[in-house]
Amino acid sequence: MKTVFSGIQPSGELHLGNYLGAVRNWVALQEQYPSNLFFIADYHVLTQPYDPKALPGRVSEMVLDLLALGIDPDRSLLFLQSSVSQHTELAWVLSNAAGFGDLERMTQFKDKSAHNPEHINAGLFTYPVLQAADILLYKAALVPVGQDQVQHIELTRRIARAFNHRWGATFPEPEVALTNMPKLLGLDGKAKMSKSLDNHIALSLFADPKKLRKRLAKFATDPARVQREDPGNPDVCNIFTMHKAVSSEADLAWVRQGCTTAGIGCVDCKTRLAENLETHLAGFVTKRAELAATPGIVGEVLDAGAVKARVIASETMREVREKLGLWPSR
Ligand code: ADP
Ligand code: TRP
Repeated sequence: MKTVFSGIQPSGELHLGNYLGAVRNWVALQEQYPSNLFFIADYHVLTQPYDPKALPGRVSEMVLDLLALGIDPDRSLLFLQSSVSQHTELAWVLSNAAGFGDLERMTQFKDKSAHNPEHINAGLFTYPVLQAADILLYKAALVPVGQDQVQHIELTRRIARAFNHRWGATFPEPEVALTNMPKLLGLDGKAKMSKSLDNHIALSLFADPKKLRKRLAKFATDPARVQREDPGNPDVCNIFTMHKAVSSEADLAWVRQGCTTAGIGCVDCKTRLAENLETHLAGFVTKRAELAATPGIVGEVLDAGAVKARVIASETMREVREKLGLWPSR
């Protein structure tokens, strides 16, 4: 029985890139696979500066977002990383199967340390080991993530292999599942849309429509369109990429024709995108409002998820302890 596993950090507001690159795949896969686990990676947040007072609220918002987008607690476990202590326990074990040189090569470590040179801690360096523990604890076969996480999943495979080689066959090597939009770009049209690196470059999925339009107005378009009358190439424009996710064939044809002949301006194109995004997201927004008005729902879902996740996690740790030759815990 194949297990699907993935997670998201409660490091900011869920954005269009998270949805198009990962979460919509979680929802699709939960329909196809019998065993699905999704979690909120709160321990990973510690690797970067954050506000502890705001963290519980962020977790709660993220749970509501995920439920609104279609994660169904009857089909999938949804839980909080820090509620299942075996994640950190296995991370220590796996750090003895992870190569130092491999960790040094992680581009996310390099990017985050360059972005925040004041804050290069050992947790940021060993972050992918904790991520490997998250995945291997549930012996996941399939990990739906965006492009930026592929390197971490490849490392997870190497860690699994190294563990199996040293202590005996225990962990399957997980595969990555990507969507057709694994790397949505942010405001400057160059760096990936992100909430943890810089949430000013992201389009929050549940932002007020006025805010969304304002943010979209600042988004870079094809640099060839310096003047309104300059024609452009939609295939190199991030706005068109987003159109492809939410607009009809007729609108895509309208953009292509209008952009390449300068028949429409970038403002027209963005206005249509904003309208289409709002239509596309309307159902999620309504569902989210209903969920947010249901008292206790976040705690109930997380508690139920954690109880079930702990059963799987403790069974894996029992097996791991045995393989390691540790004294049986009672
Ligand atoms: P962020 O980088 O915005 O803080 P996370 O690291 O919590 O987001 O990522 C949650 C999931 O969303 C991961 O699977 C990640 O690969 C995916 N993801 C993040 N940003 C993007 C993006 N711009 N395009 C596609 N997928 C993304
Ligand atoms: N590192 C992932 C991210 O930033 C979040 C994450 C932590 C994760 N553990 C995971 C994703 C395990 C998939 C599987 O997006």
